[in-house]
Amino acid sequence: MTTIGILGVGHLAELMVRGLEGSGYALILSPRNAEIAAHLAEDFGCKVAASNQAVIDMADGVFVCLPARTGVAELSTLRFRPGQPVLSAMAGTGLSVLQGAVGPARAAITMMPGYANAFRCGPSILHPDDGFWRDFLSKVGPVEPFADEASFTVAAVFGAFSGASFGWMAHIIAWFEAQGLPPETARRLIAATLRGNAEVLLQEDHPLDEITESVVTKGGISELVLTTLGQHNALAAWDEGLDRVLSRIGGAEKGA
Ligand SMILES: NC(=O)c1ccc[n+]([C@@H]2O[C@H](COP(=O)([O-])OP(=O)(O)OC[C@H]3O[C@@H](n4cnc5c(N)ncnc54)[C@H](OP(=O)(O)O)[C@@H]3O)[C@@H](O)[C@H]2O)c1
Repeated sequence: MTTIGILGVGHLAELMVRGLEGSGYALILSPRNAEIAAHLAEDFGCKVAASNQAVIDMADGVFVCLPARTGVAELSTLRFRPGQPVLSAMAGTGLSVLQGAVGPARAAITMMPGYANAFRCGPSILHPDDGFWRDFLSKVGPVEPFADEASFTVAAVFGAFSGASFGWMAHIIAWFEAQGLPPETARRLIAATLRGNAEVLLQEDHPLDEITESVVTKGGISELVLTTLGQHNALAAWDEGLDRVLSRIGGAEKGA
C-alpha cells in the first residue's frame, strides 16, 4: 500500500482525508494541531507521526498543506530522499521555490477547491504532470495536468474563483430567502440549478456561445438579469478580482 505523508493538518488536510477514505492510500499526519490529527486518526484510521521529519521518513510521497506564508521555510529545515515525490498545495509557491526547499526530492505543485474534494468531485491541477500524484489526486476528483508553469499559475486562480463562488451562492440564496422561500428550499434549488448547468457544460459539445444564446432569449428574463448586471459592471468586476489574485499568486514566486 502506498503511504502518503501529510505536512500541515488543517482545513485542506481534513477535507482531503475525508475524500481519500477507502481510496487505498495509507495516510501519516504531522503532529501539529493535535486536535485535528487525533480526530482524523480516530475517524479515518490515519497515523500521526512524532515530528514533521518522521512524516517524511515513513512516507512514499509527501503532500504539503502547510500555511502558504511559512511552509517553504519549514520545508527547508527538513530532509527528503532523492526522487521522493513531494506535492505542494500552498497557494503562490512556485515550482522552483518548492524544488529549492525540498532538495533532492521530486517537486510538483497543485491547487484544488478543498471542500468538493471531500465529496470526490473537486478538480485538481498539477504541474508538472507526474503519474504518482495524478493517481493520488484522481481519487478526489478530475485532474488537469499542465506542462508549463505559466499556464498552471493562470489555472490556479480557479481556487479563488471556487471559494468566491460560495459567497456568490450565499448572496443569491439569501435573495430567495428574503422573498419568503424557506432557507433549505432556496439552498437546494440554487445548488441543483448550478449542478445541472455545470453538467450541460461538461456533457454538451456545442460551443459555449451557442449554448448561451439558446438559453438567454432575446428580450427574456435571463437577458434582463444580464443587462442589469452589465449596467453595474458586475460581470467585469469578476475580471478585476481574478486579475488581483493572479498578480498575487504569480508575484509570490518572485518574492513579492
Ligand atoms: N483550505 C483549502 O480549501 C485550500 C485549498 C487549496 C490549497 N490550500 C492551501 O493549503 C494550505 C493549508 O491551508 P488550510 O486552509 O488547510 O490552512 P490551515 O487550516 O491553517 O492549516 C494549516 C495547518 O498547518 C499547521 N502548521 C503550521 N505550521 C506548521 C509546521 N511548521 N509544521 C506542521 N504543521 C504546521 C497549522 O497548525 P496550527 O493551527 O497549530 O497553526 C494548521 O493546522 C495553504 O498553503 C493553502 O494555500 C488550501
